[in-house]
Amino acid sequence: MRDGFGREITYLRLSVTDRCNLRCRYCMPEEGVSLQDHEEMLTQEEMLAAVEAAASLGITKLRITGGEPLVKKNILSICRQCAQVEGIREVCITTNGLLLPQLAEPLRDAGVSRVNISLDTLDGEKYRRITRVGELPQALAGIEAALKAGFEKVKLNVVLIGGFNDDEIPALAELTRRWPVDVRFIELMPMTEGFPQSAFIPCTAVLERLPELEPVSGRGGTARLYRLPGGMGNVGLISPVSDHFCASCDRLRLTADGKVKPCLHAETELSLKGLSREEMVQQLRAAILAKPRCHEPLSHAQPSRAGRDMNQIGG
Ligand code: GTP
Ligand code: 5AD
Ligand code: SF4
Repeated sequence: MRDGFGREITYLRLSVTDRCNLRCRYCMPEEGVSLQDHEEMLTQEEMLAAVEAAASLGITKLRITGGEPLVKKNILSICRQCAQVEGIREVCITTNGLLLPQLAEPLRDAGVSRVNISLDTLDGEKYRRITRVGELPQALAGIEAALKAGFEKVKLNVVLIGGFNDDEIPALAELTRRWPVDVRFIELMPMTEGFPQSAFIPCTAVLERLPELEPVSGRGGTARLYRLPGGMGNVGLISPVSDHFCASCDRLRLTADGKVKPCLHAETELSLKGLSREEMVQQLRAAILAKPRCHEPLSHAQPSRAGRDMNQIGG
């Protein structure tokens, strides 16, 4: 279905939980965990009904997100059921990768075709600092497990943070020569407080640091694509702050507590909790029509108006 600005909405990001086994500083507060009652969250049946309702309106691509989707107990069954919904052509997952050593193959078998994995640094001490609790070797083992499981595509998400990992741009991009993966540098979106202005650096810093990057024609969704000579995968630049992609926005988000967000950075939310499938169709239609042309500009001084931390939205 098209929104009020003629954009075809084909992509749903379904957050299955706001819980996470990490505490990334750009995503959630240290204490982290949700205080919401179990009864406020969507049941698995409601999630499936929402996906069916969305598919009936023209959603073809589903991305399962969190928090960390792989900490959800029934994640394999959710993925399997979603992959079987008529009209859903692709089920993808965004994960921190820690649980992929055990789950990569079962996810593949459940019908997940692609995975995106967060990896902000190759330094163990820095990984612990940015995630507050994580161990880098586990994340690396998760990437290897995803590659071994044979997903159609594995992408690594690097949130660019000035003074933290900008010195690692070459080493992180180099991973496209070591593994058949895409490495995507993402501008830090101002969601939580606690980052100095200097942490916000534009993706053009990657081009300045790596002049050998060659443009690849076309776009990879939200990313502009480049390649290192000899690279097996692309280097992608995602610039939600310096060069937003609202004009080609094709997505809706559904949070684990059942709120449809027409826009990541706007406060508007429409609830699906407790609705029948038919009512969900109506509500999703309303959400598509409520999509704004664009969100307010983002900056250190003017943070996101999402009204939630990233772990409660799913990115
Ligand atoms: P692909 O299907 O591989 O293109 O995935 P994706 O890039 O849509 O999803 P992923 O979960 O890997 O997100 C990568 C980054 O893009 C994260 O930092 C997301 O928060 C950000 N992102 C995804 N969709 C949007 C959007 O609509 N607006 C903004 N501003 N950022 C987004
Ligand atoms: N800015 C940019 N990207 C973010 N992510 C989480 N929080 C932010 C933020 N504030 C990314 C994660 C993950 C994806 C779901 O969103 O790194 O890869
Ligand atoms: Fe967890 Fe992902 Fe948020 Fe990190 S970015 S705390 S891994 S949900």
